[in-house]
Amino acid sequence: MRIVCIGGGPAGLYFALLMKRQHPAHHVTVVERNRPFDTFGWGVVFSDATMQSMRQWDPETAEAIEVAFNHWDDIELVFKGRRIRTTGHGFVGIGRKKMLNILQDRCLELGVELLFERDVESDTEFPDADLVIAADGVNSRIRNRYADVFRPDMVMRPNRYIWLGTNKRFDAFTFDFQRTEHGWFQAHIYRFDETTSTFIVETTDEVYKAHGLDRMDQQQSIEFCEKLFAETLDGHSLMTNARHLRGSAWLNFGRLICEKWSHFNGNSHVVLMGDSAHTAHFAIGSGTKLAIDDAIELTRQFDILGHDTASIPAVLAAYEEVRRVDVARIQNAARNAMEWFEVVGTRYADTLEPEQFMYSMLTRSQRISHENLRLRDKDWLEGFERWFAGRAGLEPSANGTVPPPMFTPFTIRGLTLRNRIVVSPMAMHSATDGVPNDFHLVHIGARAMGGAALVFPEMTCVSPDARITPGCLGLWNDEQQAAFSRMVDFVHRETPAKIGVQLGHAGRKGAAKLAWEGIDQPLSEGGWPLISASALPYLAHSQVPREMTRADMDRVVADFVTATERARDIGFDILELHAAHGYLLSSFLSPLTNRRTDDYGGDHAARARFPLEVFRAIRKAWPEDRPISVRLSTNDWHEGGNTPEDAAIFARLFKEAGADMIDCSSGQVVTDDKPVYGRLFQTPFSDKIRNEIQVPTIAVGAISEADHANSIIAAGRADLCAIARPHLADPSFVMHEAAKIGYEEQHWPKQYLSARAQYVNNLARAATTAGK
Ligand SMILES: Cc1cc2nc3c(=O)[nH]c(=O)nc-3n(C[C@H](O)[C@H](O)[C@H](O)COP(=O)(O)OP(=O)(O)OC[C@H]3O[C@@H](n4cnc5c(N)ncnc54)[C@H](O)[C@@H]3O)c2cc1C
Ligand SMILES: Cc1cc2nc3c(=O)[nH]c(=O)nc-3n(C[C@H](O)[C@H](O)[C@H](O)COP(=O)(O)O)c2cc1C
Repeated sequence: MRIVCIGGGPAGLYFALLMKRQHPAHHVTVVERNRPFDTFGWGVVFSDATMQSMRQWDPETAEAIEVAFNHWDDIELVFKGRRIRTTGHGFVGIGRKKMLNILQDRCLELGVELLFERDVESDTEFPDADLVIAADGVNSRIRNRYADVFRPDMVMRPNRYIWLGTNKRFDAFTFDFQRTEHGWFQAHIYRFDETTSTFIVETTDEVYKAHGLDRMDQQQSIEFCEKLFAETLDGHSLMTNARHLRGSAWLNFGRLICEKWSHFNGNSHVVLMGDSAHTAHFAIGSGTKLAIDDAIELTRQFDILGHDTASIPAVLAAYEEVRRVDVARIQNAARNAMEWFEVVGTRYADTLEPEQFMYSMLTRSQRISHENLRLRDKDWLEGFERWFAGRAGLEPSANGTVPPPMFTPFTIRGLTLRNRIVVSPMAMHSATDGVPNDFHLVHIGARAMGGAALVFPEMTCVSPDARITPGCLGLWNDEQQAAFSRMVDFVHRETPAKIGVQLGHAGRKGAAKLAWEGIDQPLSEGGWPLISASALPYLAHSQVPREMTRADMDRVVADFVTATERARDIGFDILELHAAHGYLLSSFLSPLTNRRTDDYGGDHAARARFPLEVFRAIRKAWPEDRPISVRLSTNDWHEGGNTPEDAAIFARLFKEAGADMIDCSSGQVVTDDKPVYGRLFQTPFSDKIRNEIQVPTIAVGAISEADHANSIIAAGRADLCAIARPHLADPSFVMHEAAKIGYEEQHWPKQYLSARAQYVNNLARAATTAGK
């Protein structure tokens, strides 16, 4: 085959040498517009996993790179006058020039033709090529030529960065955060050879402009950075090697994905590789790794399907399919990390203490968990746990141990919870006329005995027409109140758990069938008239609700107040107002469901007016020393709907009205929402609201093990974790998770204690067997 790689970066060079090595009969050319040593940038970092596969595919290259590597384990944070260091992180760094030279040498050794100083205009300059690799970087001319085929989606990120170098030798991956009169700057610093370190300075566009950096030339920017980071630079200067760039040299990162990666131009197959196909932000330093992995995968597919021209279409299809998944995974993690650095100045830097700031930074991609940090640096993590427990008011025990973050207590108003785990409300559709029965007593009782600090029965409706289904719980009459009292008394008498009530009104989602008869489907008979913010049905064939009148509002407020008074008398410890998931109050908050033109529709304040009226009324009726949380859909996951930004505005309004906590759920407001599910998928919304609005939060959604909860609580992404489905599968979820992470102080009911040692031993035995 005749193969031409346009672009002599890591992708083009590595693919060229791998193909030549696997099949020397191929004629492989790399065409690069620069001279051999002319390259933008300083150093790149790699993980051990990338090196492992490079070793497998071409040991010679891997060895040459390894010899030139600088390896280091430590991460150091410079923040608010402190230097905090952790170890065990395992990075390797290499100069980009050095790496390209190694790849170039190896290409020559294997017989790859290298053409430098040739600026390629078009892939059609190589009509004889069977395969053209568009490895021409993020601004790929070849990709842009076929933009209608590849359909690139480039999103320019708001932060500004400048990529500099210094001759100071740093012995740790160093993050230095400096506050100025206009806001925060951060430097990402790592050494990549004996004499040089990469020094990337980053800030927001606002801060960049406020300092006039948009009007400065490179030299002035460098002087600015030298002054700002003078202490860390310790007399060393900063250098640029991008003098060819005009203007300020501060860049915006562009996040790129392409819908298609290959195309037949009439003569040759053209395929994207490396940065021309996708980018990953330097916050997790994976751009070069992705380029290398692309090269390996394309070669691997030729090995599998055949090194001949007939196989090319199948090879390219398989390459794209495999790589797309991995790229999406890395881009996801890179996005979290990138966003952390975009908001750090406004969200964390001013408020978090250095210990927690470090923890938040280390776990910014949400891929490194609490136990993972323990494996990396046990001493540091135990020190952090002592710090965290101290903040929660705990002293270390006699042998110096403290509980992990999720097992520390939490106090809000007069309520103290013994740990951070909440049984999230879950509709059971098992009541008649809203009255809790034996099922509810056993269901809630079992979960209260299972170790969670706080249990919520399902949404409890404030009137018969506030129910979602005929099976919902309600709190509008004495019979219901008496049955709830029995449940609450049981929890208080027999368990150390607290119990809350979630009050709600179904709005337009009411008069529906029981879940197992068809979720959200309208009742065929026995339905009741529905009310909502606007007269819009939930499903096309659902009942059309009445747009609420002022008289309806007065009645609903009164119903909420009566239910609150009953809940107070029953002795619930906390009240949650359900203003999420498209139910009545949520229908006012979302612009998708609120089309009103009166005082209750329009901007945020207007849409929140009625929910806030309800909130203020129940706050008055609820005892001073007991807290109220508000559950919000913090993202409608729908074009034109509420975003986390909007949710933060609502959170602030509820906070100002006296809400103690925001419970950060999302979605279910409209039927055609497009949630992006995944591990901890709603936690970023809780993080945003907690740290930007400075209000305690509950995180919920796909939090399914102690390790998740510990990471969330430790990083300050939430104060409590609500766990729903895992508690359906296992009422003793918390007891079991405590045992799994070796936390011995977890309360077990005295009646069940004899099972505990056996459970712990069985876990240990299973772990030993799995390790064999
Ligand atoms: C600030 C910053 C820090 C980074 N840090 C890291 C890091 O620590 N670790 C990491 O792994 N990655 C890092 N990256 C990303 C990394 O540099 C890229 O992801 C990686 O180089 C991609 O390799 P590539 O071969 O696809 O593209 P490139 O390295 O961009 O190579 C493309 C090549 O094509 C050439 N070319 C372009 N157009 C033409 C043309 N028309 N004709 C001929 N030649 C052409 C270019 O001159 C260039 O040599 C960082 C990026 C930035 C911006
Ligand atoms: C069967 C079931 C019923 C639910 N009912 C309610 C409810 O009454 N009120 C509420 O706010 N959320 C309700 N939810 C949502 C959960 O409280 C929780 O937010 C969601 O399941 C995500 O958490 P998980 O991933 O831990 O399951 C329900 C969820 C399930 C699975």
